[in-house]
Amino acid sequence: MHIVPVLQPGSPQAQVIAHLFRAILIACGVIMAVVTGAIVYSLMHFRSRPGAPEPPQILGSKPLEILWTVVPILVVVWMFMLTARASRESDPTPAVLDPDLRVIGHQWWWEALYPKSSAVTANEIHIPTGQRLLVQVDSADVIHDFWVPELGRKMDMIPGHPNYIWLEATQPGTYRGACAEYCGAQHAWMRIMVVADPPVAFDSWVRHQAQPAPNTVSKHAEGAALFQQLTCANCHAIRGSSATNQFAPDLTHLAERRTLAAGVLSNTLPNLVEWLRSPQTLKPGCLMPNLQLTPTQASALADYLESLK
Ligand code: CUA
Repeated sequence: MHIVPVLQPGSPQAQVIAHLFRAILIACGVIMAVVTGAIVYSLMHFRSRPGAPEPPQILGSKPLEILWTVVPILVVVWMFMLTARASRESDPTPAVLDPDLRVIGHQWWWEALYPKSSAVTANEIHIPTGQRLLVQVDSADVIHDFWVPELGRKMDMIPGHPNYIWLEATQPGTYRGACAEYCGAQHAWMRIMVVADPPVAFDSWVRHQAQPAPNTVSKHAEGAALFQQLTCANCHAIRGSSATNQFAPDLTHLAERRTLAAGVLSNTLPNLVEWLRSPQTLKPGCLMPNLQLTPTQASALADYLESLK
């Protein structure tokens, strides 16, 4: 992970933004140096000295007035042109908005849908390297903001008003992002992970994610029954079972994700048991209720969920 991710672009779109940032930073630095230098020089050179004559006054000098009107205008026009070019290159303007990926912000997790393959996942989204995906971002509740600094610009997720961004990664790797618009108590724990895979690996990942859950019910009968009997199935979907609700993260292939609860915990069996038993301690305010599970119930449920590869 990079310390200043915005300056370590991992996509052509982020590259353009990083270039713009550097160009403006350097230009402003030069302007600051010139202005500060002029002030310091004037303070030293024209300080009042007892008995010294008054220096020549140049109030109303036409050449100077023209100079300091024209130069700032040129600087602003140059910055405007750079910004307009960066906006065009980093922002989608396709005539037909046919997204490759839809990301929906929820309090406080990310739903990811791949319309072209009907794969659904949460919080960990995979993309193929070297391909520019058109991503539609939307929200299910309040305003969130999708931001993976190494890969591109921020984009607000506004309920009922889809926005679009490009998502691309040049190199395979894991790129971290976070919600960038304050959206409630667990805003800081609304982390997203973008995993860029080589195209062949991505294709097999997305094909697998589109499939129903593996049938592990016979091996984990108790956990599978609890999932349907308790209120889990009222919110979560496990495709291939009778649980089809989409209010909470789709758990069809939960065992393959690296984290739980949008980045709060790494996805291990003991952590999942912990999460099932005390979601409100680990992520206070989240919509996952405490079901008052006994240790035996929690571990049966976790065993079943961790079998969903
Ligand atoms: Cu979602 Cu902040």
